[in-house]
Amino acid sequence: MNLASAYFSPEASTFAEGTDSVFMFITWVSIFFFVAIVGLMTLFVIKYRRKSEDEVTPNISHNLLLEIVWSIVPIILVMFMFYWGYKAFDRMNDPKAAIAEADGKEVIDLYVKGYQWYWEIAYPHGLKINSNSSKVEGNLNFKKFSDDEKENDRNYMVVPVNRVVRLNMTSNDVIHSFAVPAFRVKKDVIKKRNSMIWFKATEKGTYIYTCNEMCGKDHSKMIGYIRVVSEDKYKEWVKRTAVDTRSTWEKGRDRYNSVCKACHTLDGTVKPGQGPSWKGLFTYENGLPVGKVDHAIEGEVIKQVGFDYIEESVNRPMKKLAKGFQGGMGPQTMTDAQVREIILFMSSPDKDPNPKTTEEK
Ligand code: CU
Repeated sequence: MNLASAYFSPEASTFAEGTDSVFMFITWVSIFFFVAIVGLMTLFVIKYRRKSEDEVTPNISHNLLLEIVWSIVPIILVMFMFYWGYKAFDRMNDPKAAIAEADGKEVIDLYVKGYQWYWEIAYPHGLKINSNSSKVEGNLNFKKFSDDEKENDRNYMVVPVNRVVRLNMTSNDVIHSFAVPAFRVKKDVIKKRNSMIWFKATEKGTYIYTCNEMCGKDHSKMIGYIRVVSEDKYKEWVKRTAVDTRSTWEKGRDRYNSVCKACHTLDGTVKPGQGPSWKGLFTYENGLPVGKVDHAIEGEVIKQVGFDYIEESVNRPMKKLAKGFQGGMGPQTMTDAQVREIILFMSSPDKDPNPKTTEEK
């Protein structure tokens, strides 16, 4: 019987088999010596026990050959265990091995951060996953979960099968240890230090990842699901869960360039058949977009341009026409948030007044 597959989590990465082999080798060697030593000891206790009152213990000092054998053989054995285990361990921690294993394909870099008490997994496409969002139910017992029962896109860590994934890890507070039992990977994370571990998943399915370092009261709750899916499914998932990391102003700028620019300039010029320029409609002062005062439209003067006027001009453009324009723009369907993005861009078309800082809290 294969003890490993009966009692361990499934073997779902390229490391699993090797790790289990070392483990089972050590286990069987230990069992062999336990049986041999305790068995012989028991046998000798019975066989060589003192049988009569006048029996004298023979004087045996030592046996050089025997002593050399029982010293050298175990040394060779444990050195072999060390070498075998160290080779496997070293590979998981070697970035060059990761690149070699990737075999020309791109290594997928994920960013893992331990918090008291959850894991945050950040993806290059902007998505951040909190391990607490994947509620783990019932007795885990290292089982392999079925694929379909865990469908929620943004709650589960997802990786493609047969691709090298590198985890770039650190801690926000105390020492944690990131572990995926089914992949046989585990590594401590420490505040203000980076640690790296990699794996290549080989079996599709849903597994658990945990914290393996006692890190406080809710240590046992630092647990989540990781899904291994086909490469196509992974690509779809990345697309579906992509997070817009642009700033408000950048979103406004991009919308201006793709939608509004065709008819509205920013420099005050107006070409025949086009709409009014946005110049001066908003300025950016004291940290806020401020609307133009006394803005002339057909039939009235707006005291100060505000959100309402822009929202109306975007979504119901024929209602209020800028003075001297006939109109002709089709109604857009922009949300309030999108209108605000446009207004922020209008107020400062040259540069983002609130550029994103690199370290977002
Ligand atoms: Cu922890």
